[in-house]
Amino acid sequence: MASSLTLCLVGFLVLVGEVVGNLDGGDDTAMEEQELLGLFEVLGSFLEDPDWAQVHPLPCTDTPWPGVQCEISEEDPGFFHVTRIHIGPDVINPPCKTSSVLPKSLQKLPYLKTLSIFGCFVTLPVIISPSLFGYSTLLEHLSLESNPALYGEIPSSLGQLSNLRVLSLSQNNLTGSIPPELGGLTNLEQLDLSYNNLTGEIPEGIGAMKSLTILDLSWNSLGGEIPASLGRLQMLQKIDLKSNKLLGRIPPDLGMLKRLVLLDLSHNLINGPLPVTLSGLEQLQYFIIDQNPVNSGIPLFLGSLRQLVSISLSGCGLTGSIPSFFSSLENLTALSLDKNSLAGPVPPSLGSLPNLDQLNLSHNQLSGELLLQEEFIDRIGKRLDVRGNKGLCTSSKTHSNRNISVYLKTPDCLDANGSDNNSRPEENPDEAKGMQTSSGYHGGISLSPAEARLDPKLLSFTTISLLIGSFL
Ligand SMILES: *[C@@H]1O[C@H](CO)[C@@H](O)[C@H](O)[C@H]1NC(C)=O
Ligand SMILES: *[C@@H]1O[C@H](CO)[C@@H](O)[C@H](O)[C@H]1NC(C)=O
Ligand SMILES: *[C@@H]1O[C@H](CO)[C@@H](O)[C@H](O)[C@H]1NC(C)=O
Ligand SMILES: *[C@@H]1O[C@H](CO)[C@@H](O)[C@H](O)[C@H]1NC(C)=O
Ligand SMILES: *[C@@H]1O[C@H](CO)[C@@H](O)[C@H](O)[C@H]1NC(C)=O
Ligand SMILES: *[C@@H]1O[C@H](CO)[C@@H](O)[C@H](O)[C@H]1NC(C)=O
Ligand SMILES: *[C@@H]1O[C@H](CO)[C@@H](O)[C@H](O)[C@H]1NC(C)=O
Repeated sequence: MASSLTLCLVGFLVLVGEVVGNLDGGDDTAMEEQELLGLFEVLGSFLEDPDWAQVHPLPCTDTPWPGVQCEISEEDPGFFHVTRIHIGPDVINPPCKTSSVLPKSLQKLPYLKTLSIFGCFVTLPVIISPSLFGYSTLLEHLSLESNPALYGEIPSSLGQLSNLRVLSLSQNNLTGSIPPELGGLTNLEQLDLSYNNLTGEIPEGIGAMKSLTILDLSWNSLGGEIPASLGRLQMLQKIDLKSNKLLGRIPPDLGMLKRLVLLDLSHNLINGPLPVTLSGLEQLQYFIIDQNPVNSGIPLFLGSLRQLVSISLSGCGLTGSIPSFFSSLENLTALSLDKNSLAGPVPPSLGSLPNLDQLNLSHNQLSGELLLQEEFIDRIGKRLDVRGNKGLCTSSKTHSNRNISVYLKTPDCLDANGSDNNSRPEENPDEAKGMQTSSGYHGGISLSPAEARLDPKLLSFTTISLLIGSFL
C-alpha cells in the first residue's frame, strides 16, 4: 500500500518533471542555461569528478545529486532554480579536490538560499573574496566550516546579505577583526565564528542583529570589553565567548537578556565584581565563568537564578566563604568552585540538593568539619572533590564502615580536647592511589541500586549539554 503510493508519487513527480521540462519549448533542462552552466562550473571547481556534468545533465529533475537542491521558480513555474549546495564528507568523501577554491561562478546562482562547504579547503590557501556574494541577496544560510586553509579576513560585504539567518565560519583559519558591517544582518539568528584566529574587539554594532539567538565567538583572540549593546539582543539564548582575551567587567546590560540559557565567558581576562543585574537572567541554566581574574566574593545574585543547572567559577580568584543559598537551586547538577581562595566551612545544605551530581571544592582554604549527608556522599562518589583544603577535616565516624571517595580523604577532625593526635600528616592519597582507583567508583565499592540509577542522570546531563551546545 505504502510502496504503491510512493510509486504513484514518483510517477507523478516524473510526469511533472517532464511536463515542466517540455514547457520550456522542448528544451528539457527546465533550468535557465546560464544558471545550469553556473552550477556545472561551481561543482566542477569543487569535485574531483570531471564527468559530473555528463552524469548529471538535469540536476534539478532526472539526474539529481544529494548535495544539490532545486525549487520551482516563483516567477516562472516552468523553471527550476538551484537553491541549495552542500559539499561535505556526508555527501561525498573526500568532499573536494585539492585545488578547490570558492569559485566566482557562484555569482551565476542568484537563487541560492543555502551554501554549506565543510572540510573542503585543506591544502591550497583560499580566501573569501569580498565580491563573491555580492549578488546572493537571497542567501539565508552560509556555512563554511572546518576548512583549515580558508584564511584571510571576513569581508565586510557579508553585511549586505540582508536575508541571512545563519552565518557560520567556524573552524577555519580566519584572521583580522569582525567587520562592524555584520551588524546590518538584522535577520541573522545564528552567528558562529568560533575556532579561528580573529583579533580586535567585538564590534558594538553587533547589537543591531536583533534576531540573534546564538552568538558563538569562542576560541579566538578577541580582546577589549564585552560590548554593552549585546544587552539589546532580546532573542539571545546562547552567548559563548570562551577562550578569548576579553577584558574588563561584564556590562550590566547583559542582565536584560530574559531568554538567555547559556553564558560561557570562561578562559578570558574578565574582572569582578560581576554585576548584580545578572539576576535578571531568568532562564539561565549554564553560568560558566571559570579561569577569569574575577577576584571577588561568590556573586549573591546566583541564588535568584532558579533554573541554574551548572555553575563553574573555577580559578576565578574568589574569596570569602561559600554562601548557603546554593541549596535553594533545586535543579543544580554541577557546581565547580575549585582553585579559588574560599575560606570557612562547607555549608552542609549542599548535600541536600537533590540533583547535585558534581561538586568540586578542591584547592581552596576551606576549613572545619565536612558535614555532608551520608546519602549524598555515597551517591556522588568520586564526583565530590575536596582535595587541597588544608583546614578541612572529617570526623572518623564519617569513615567508619564506609568506603569513601579518595577525593574526600581529609584529616580526621580534632578531638574534643583539642589534641590533634589523630590528624595524619599531609599525605596525598590521590597522587599515589588516585590513578588506579580513578576508573572505579569511590574506592571500589560496588554500585548500590541508588547509585546505579544516577548514572543515566549524569548521562542525560552530558547529553543535554551536548544538545545545547550543538542545537542552540
Ligand atoms: C593559516 O594562515 C596562516 C597565515 O595567516 C598561515 O601561515 C597558515 O599556514 C595557515 N594554516 C593552514 C593550516 O593553512
Ligand atoms: C591560529 O590558531 C591556531 C590555533 O587555534 C594556531 O595554531 C595558529 O598558529 C594560529 N595562526 C595564526 C596565523 O595566528
Ligand atoms: C527544574 O527543571 C525542571 C525541568 O527540567 C523544571 O520544570 C523546573 O521548573 C525546574 N525547577 C526550578 C526550581 O526551576
Ligand atoms: C576538581 O578540579 C580540579 C582542578 O581544580 C581538577 O584537577 C579535578 O580533576 C576536579 N575533580 C573532579 C572530580 O572533577
Ligand atoms: C571497602 O573496600 C574494600 C576493597 O576496596 C573491601 O575489601 C571492603 O570490604 C570494603 N568495606 C566496606 C565496608 O564496604
Ligand atoms: C584528651 O583526649 C584523650 C583521648 O582522645 C583522653 O584520653 C584524655 O583524657 C583527654 N584529655 C583531657 C584533658 O580531656
Ligand atoms: C597520641 O597517640 C599516641 C599513639 O597513637 C599515644 O601514645 C599518645 O598518648 C597520644 N597523645 C595524646 C595527647 O592523645
